[in-house]
Amino acid sequence: MNPPASATFRIDGALCGRVRVPGDKSISHRSLMLSALAVGRSTIDGLLEGEDVLATAAALRAMGATIHRGDDGRWTVDGVGVGGLLQPGAALDMGNSGTSTRLLMGLVASHPITATFVGDASLSGRPMGRVIDPLAQMGADISASPGGRLPLMLRGLSPAVPLTYRLPVASAQVKSAVLLAGLNTPGITRVIEPVPTRDHSERMLAGFGATVEIGQDDDGARIIAIHGEAELRPQAIDVPGDPSSAAFLAVAALLVPGSEVRIDNVGINPTRAGLYDMLRRMGGDIVYADVRTVGGEPVADLIVRASALTGIEVPPDVAPSMIDEYPILFVAAALARGRTTLRGLEELRVKESDRIAVMATGLRAIGATVQELPDGLVIDGRDGAPFPGGATVAARLDHRIAMSFAIAGLVSAAPVVIDDIAPIATSFPTFPTLLESLGARLDPAP
Ligand code: S3P
Repeated sequence: MNPPASATFRIDGALCGRVRVPGDKSISHRSLMLSALAVGRSTIDGLLEGEDVLATAAALRAMGATIHRGDDGRWTVDGVGVGGLLQPGAALDMGNSGTSTRLLMGLVASHPITATFVGDASLSGRPMGRVIDPLAQMGADISASPGGRLPLMLRGLSPAVPLTYRLPVASAQVKSAVLLAGLNTPGITRVIEPVPTRDHSERMLAGFGATVEIGQDDDGARIIAIHGEAELRPQAIDVPGDPSSAAFLAVAALLVPGSEVRIDNVGINPTRAGLYDMLRRMGGDIVYADVRTVGGEPVADLIVRASALTGIEVPPDVAPSMIDEYPILFVAAALARGRTTLRGLEELRVKESDRIAVMATGLRAIGATVQELPDGLVIDGRDGAPFPGGATVAARLDHRIAMSFAIAGLVSAAPVVIDDIAPIATSFPTFPTLLESLGARLDPAP
């Protein structure tokens, strides 16, 4: 791993220009995985080339798929077919990536192979019990480190046992792990989700030719059923830009006075776009231009202009549609007029870091008024007045914490030093360059 790189982000004047953010992280992982299980050659344009996605690619190669990046940026994947994954010769290094870990555990669970999953300090502290439980019910044999954590070893079962599983936490990763295990399982595997989560897996499974049925139970919960032992047909995939990455640039444009930024090709799938709805509700000037479909997903160009924001109560039921965007929304709320209340966010405590505690600590350090609750934050905004700044904040191996404080630094009187910006490369390697192209400046800290 690279040594910690501390840095500050500053700006004189406004953010202006037009940018394109890298491919969606969730869709990139799934593109590689389903292509690796198709029979024949798939192509992927716009794949996110961040460390998390590269960890997925490396693991799939270790299990038999042939994956190449062309000089033109197009990736090709020669799949092994559903049921065709091979025994990896060494432990699978998942780095910082929870999505790689949980989804690949699902794939391995219904193959007759054994894989060991290892990761960095952040990932090794995150709960895997949520996928171990359903996958064990399907027949996988899993020995995890204490507390259901990495490193863990998973011995798959083939044929596995189909399952109907009601999600105890609103998690697209758990849903996807079970559906992917169901791909190579005879019969029908069902996931019941009381609260809808991002639906990229079910969209893409259907796109690859699997039989996927979406229904509802008597309580209105969504039921996703996959017919097992599917044969997947190779696809030409175009990955839309990541709304979770665009979020940092959009909030920056709202907060830095005089800014106007156009962010092209951003996914606006309703299961992901909650942040943009909330920012508009706070008074943010965000326009969806040229709405279209890319790779089976709704996409738009976002036009964002600096706006005076007002605090709101963020309804807890929107959480799954913006779960990764809370850190940057906290920054926006801390500069808004009045109070913003954000509850129902227990899941934030088990992300790459405890995002409630880490953001509360960092925001206080730069001069924001924040009250921490077990399940969220209450933030009293500064009515547009810059943060005092002049502090060093700890990113805790969490890309989204580092990027949130990069943006906070643009609206601070004195510099905000981020102790380590290296984790940004897990999801958004071009973040510093794009921000600079809009007028910001990155200064390495001594
Ligand atoms: C993801 C689901 C979410 C999200 C993560 C990506 C996915 O996690 O936070 O960044 O690709 O399915 P949970 O399923 O844990 O909510």
